[in-house]
Amino acid sequence: MADRVRVLLVDDIPETRDHLSKLLGFEDDIEVVGAAASGEEGLQMALTLNPDIVLMDINMPGMDGIATTEQLSARLPGTSVIMMSVQGESDYLRSSMLAGAREFLVKPFSSDELVTSIRQVYQRERDKNARVVERVAFQAREDAESEREPGRVVTVFSPKGGVGRTTIAVNLAVAAASELGKKVVLVDGSFQFGDVGVLLNLNPKNKSIADLIPEMAAGEVESLDQVLISHSSGIQVLLAPPSPEMAELITTAYLRKLLERLRENADLVIVDSWPWFHEATISLLDVSDLILTVLTLEITNIKNIRLFLEVADQLGYADDKVQLVLNRADSALGIRVADVESSIGRKIDHTVVSDGRSVVYALNRGVPFFLSNRETQVSQDIMRLARRVTGEVEMALAGQTQPAARKSRFAWR
Ligand SMILES: Nc1ncnc2c1ncn2[C@@H]1O[C@H](COP(=O)(O)OP(=O)(O)OP(=O)(O)O)[C@@H](O)[C@H]1O
Ligand SMILES: [Mg+2]
Repeated sequence: MADRVRVLLVDDIPETRDHLSKLLGFEDDIEVVGAAASGEEGLQMALTLNPDIVLMDINMPGMDGIATTEQLSARLPGTSVIMMSVQGESDYLRSSMLAGAREFLVKPFSSDELVTSIRQVYQRERDKNARVVERVAFQAREDAESEREPGRVVTVFSPKGGVGRTTIAVNLAVAAASELGKKVVLVDGSFQFGDVGVLLNLNPKNKSIADLIPEMAAGEVESLDQVLISHSSGIQVLLAPPSPEMAELITTAYLRKLLERLRENADLVIVDSWPWFHEATISLLDVSDLILTVLTLEITNIKNIRLFLEVADQLGYADDKVQLVLNRADSALGIRVADVESSIGRKIDHTVVSDGRSVVYALNRGVPFFLSNRETQVSQDIMRLARRVTGEVEMALAGQTQPAARKSRFAWR
């Protein structure tokens, strides 16, 4: 039986050893693994047999029970000693305990007393070990958490509105969480007119970033966990304020702080953004590891992207920090992708096809199309984007086109 308590007897009187052996022989959950006639022999046998419990006589010629217990406690901390003494020797209780014994039995004791003490000591030791294991595991988890790499902040940006930022941000977040198992927080950074809640069918009465405003003056983010909303897809969402005028109250410094805190516990922090440029935009873009810049095949859009790439260059962003996502890639009205690329001087990094049916159907149901229309091309495009953004597909694949793109990036100037 796996869980039998293994007991070693140490007593110099042969009759006592026999008697104890017989008594314990009746118990299914206890096994006498050896019997020693002296402290020295007991110590040797314990080191070999590694018992759970040693039933130790206190008075023995040579090394007595207390000296043997001291040695045992030092060398076999997993073994518990139950000391046995005769009436009148109970003064030894204190020194036995100091030597490391876990229990003290005064002879003569009943078979019940003996068996109960063995079980209790064994159980106590097991509980203690379980607590130690739990503590060690907890510590290991804590260490792992504190040593984990901070997550990536990915901002879905475009210098022009209505190009599909929110659509891409939401579905990208859901794809990374539901299929790649990433811990994802989606931040509705479009503070004035945020749509993330609509696409995810979240109640507008939910908590939002506005609930953090009271903490903002002190620069605290203590209530952050309480304002994050868990969506059924597995992502967490930080909603935009319920009314547009509150947007002005959220400072740039605070947004930065929020993002830094969020990335500590997430693999991916995806931020849906707003289309115009001001200080807060720059701050958000600065803090981002990756700026997915969305464009569509419209001439005004392309002009704005060129300007934005120029700004990004002036801001000193690394080449791979800005990646271009061509949304509604097949809805060209006379403009070819190659024309766009040569106009803006760099390659398109990702494409997402146009699929009005799936996108609008999903929008009306408040379910991201990645979940409701998983088989469609538009969902597959999002999946590919998610893999690349999370590093599941080495950027080497994308990089095949990038060196050339980098060289010619500002060729249009
Ligand atoms: N790949 C696509 N195929 C078809 N329709 C799309 C696609 N992407 C976005 N749309 C549609 O385009 C419209 C604008 O999309 P979305 O709201 O995501 O853009 P946005 O850039 O966030 O806009 P805003 O400036 O209002 O924040 C929506 O009606 C959306 O359903
Ligand atoms: Mg939007």
